[in-house]
Amino acid sequence: MLLKDPKVLIPETKIMNRVHELASEIAFDYRGKEITAICVLKGSFIFFADLIRNIDLPLNCEFMAVSSYGSKTTSSGEVKLTLDLTEPLEGKHVVVIEDIVDTGLTMQYLVENLRARKPATLRTCALLFKPEALQCQLDLDYIGFKLGKEFVVGYGLDYAGRYRQLPYIGALESEH
Ligand code: IMP
Repeated sequence: MLLKDPKVLIPETKIMNRVHELASEIAFDYRGKEITAICVLKGSFIFFADLIRNIDLPLNCEFMAVSSYGSKTTSSGEVKLTLDLTEPLEGKHVVVIEDIVDTGLTMQYLVENLRARKPATLRTCALLFKPEALQCQLDLDYIGFKLGKEFVVGYGLDYAGRYRQLPYIGALESEH
């Protein structure tokens, strides 16, 4: 299967406006507190960098990596922690920042894993959410955009390691 250039679904300006809105919402909700923001690698790195630079509060950055997809466009359903945090979370106000929630299995795994570390509070933020693909009970606190079931790339998201550097979110179309 050959792939054409992705079709623009969410242009750069729309992403940036929404990122600013999410950052303001988070800054308001956590006013007077310090946040530990967890970037879930790899897909969240661009969203995370843009989001935290717009949160005007004391903030610590932590990084985790999980894998569940390999080079496919559907989840294997098995989530593996491939990079762990370097600091304890006990008593901290933690916000997990994900690029996209599809089946929800990754975020569900992260929430269970992080809750066990006894943070003072734990909230979830996803730039993109595919409600129709959700396969578990999951409450997201901050959502950028809702999508259908289409596989998307760009703004950090990849297909087989490619397209992460696109400034927009696009859909892959197959060519026959
Ligand atoms: P979930 O466990 O099925 O919710 O998938 C979460 C992870 O799968 C995300 O963090 C992404 O890395 C990846 N993913 C899910 N849907 C897409 C997509 O449409 N494009 C690129 N990556 C995706």
